[in-house]
Amino acid sequence: MHMIENASSWRSPSNIALVKYWGKYDPQLPANPSLSFTLSESFTETKLEILEESGRGDFDFEVFLDYRKAEDFKPKIQKFLGRIASELDFIKGRKFSIHTYNSFPHSSGIASSASGMSALALCLLSLSPQGKVMSPSAFFQKASEWSRLGSGSASRSVYGPLGLWGKTEGIAESSDEYAIPYQGKVDPIFNEFCDTILLVEKGQKAVSSTAGHGLMKGHPFAQQRFAQAHHNLANLQKILAKGDLEAFGNLVEHEALTLHAMMMSSQPYFILMKPNTLKIIELIWEFRRESQKPLYFTLDAGANVHLLYPKHIEQEALNFVNKEIKLYLNNGEYICDRVGNGPTKLM
Ligand code: PMV
Repeated sequence: MHMIENASSWRSPSNIALVKYWGKYDPQLPANPSLSFTLSESFTETKLEILEESGRGDFDFEVFLDYRKAEDFKPKIQKFLGRIASELDFIKGRKFSIHTYNSFPHSSGIASSASGMSALALCLLSLSPQGKVMSPSAFFQKASEWSRLGSGSASRSVYGPLGLWGKTEGIAESSDEYAIPYQGKVDPIFNEFCDTILLVEKGQKAVSSTAGHGLMKGHPFAQQRFAQAHHNLANLQKILAKGDLEAFGNLVEHEALTLHAMMMSSQPYFILMKPNTLKIIELIWEFRRESQKPLYFTLDAGANVHLLYPKHIEQEALNFVNKEIKLYLNNGEYICDRVGNGPTKLM
C-alpha cells in the first residue's frame, strides 16, 4: 500500500533578468550580481509526495511532467539533490514522487529551470524538519539558497517583484549564496510592467546555459564583463528609483546584447539568436523611432525576445505584435506575462 505520509505543493514563477548572470564558479556561485523581474503567468506547479520506505539508502524518486514520467528530468534533479544531500536526511531511504506542470507550452524555449527548480526547492524545504520551524524570511532565504544549487537564476524566483542575487556594493544583505527581495526604491511604473514573450524558436537550445557559463572561464572579456555588470546594477538602481524609462530600456537592451556578445566571442563561439530574433529587434527599434513609445527588449540564453513595456501602452504594444511581429514567431505564438509577486504555497 502506498501511504502518503507527507506532501507539499508550490507554484513558483519564472523570471527575466535585467542585469544578467553569465559565468559562475563552484558551487554554483555567480561571477557577477544579477537583478530580475519575477514573472506572473509563466510558472511551474510542483507537488512532492514522500511515499513508503524504499529499502535503499539514497534518493529514490520518480518525476512526472503533466502526469507522464519524465526520465529526462531525473539527472538534473539527482544532481541538485546531491548538492543539498547533507540537509535531506528526511527523504533518504524513502521513495518520493515529483509531479510537475508548467503553465507555458512544453519546450517553448522558455527556461523552465528557474520556475521548476525553485518550486522543487520550496516543496523540499516545506517538508523538511528545519523548514517547518523557520520564520518566513529564514524559510525563503534557505529556499533561495537551495534553488540556486538547482539552477542559479532560480534563486531569484523565490521573491517578487524584483529579485537580486549576488554580492553587490551598497546592499549589505546581498549575497552570492542566495537571492534577496530587492528593497531599493522602485517607481510604481515598474510594478505594472509587461513582458510579452515572443516565441521565436521552440525546442532544445543548441548550447545549454551550463555550457555557456563554463565558457566564461578563460573568456578574453570576462573580467570587463563582470565589472560592467556591477556598474550596470548600480545604475539600474538609480533608474528604478527615478522611473526613467529611456535609461531603463537603454540599459536592459545593452545587457541583452552583451550577453549574446559573450557567447559569440567565447571559445568555442556560438550564436543562440536566430534571423527572426534580429528581425524582431529591428522592428522594435523602428516602432520606437516612429511612435516614441517606451517599448524595449531583452533576451535570455535563447532566440526568444522578451518585450518589456509599461502597462499604459499595453494595447499599442499588442497591436504592434499582432500586426508586425506575429509572422516572425513560431506558430505565431507569444505569451502575455507581467511582473509578479513570487511563489504561492498550494498545499
Ligand atoms: O540559471 P541558468 O544557469 O539557467 O542561467 C541563466 C542565465 C541567463 O538566463 C542567461 C541570465 C539570467 O541571469 O537569468
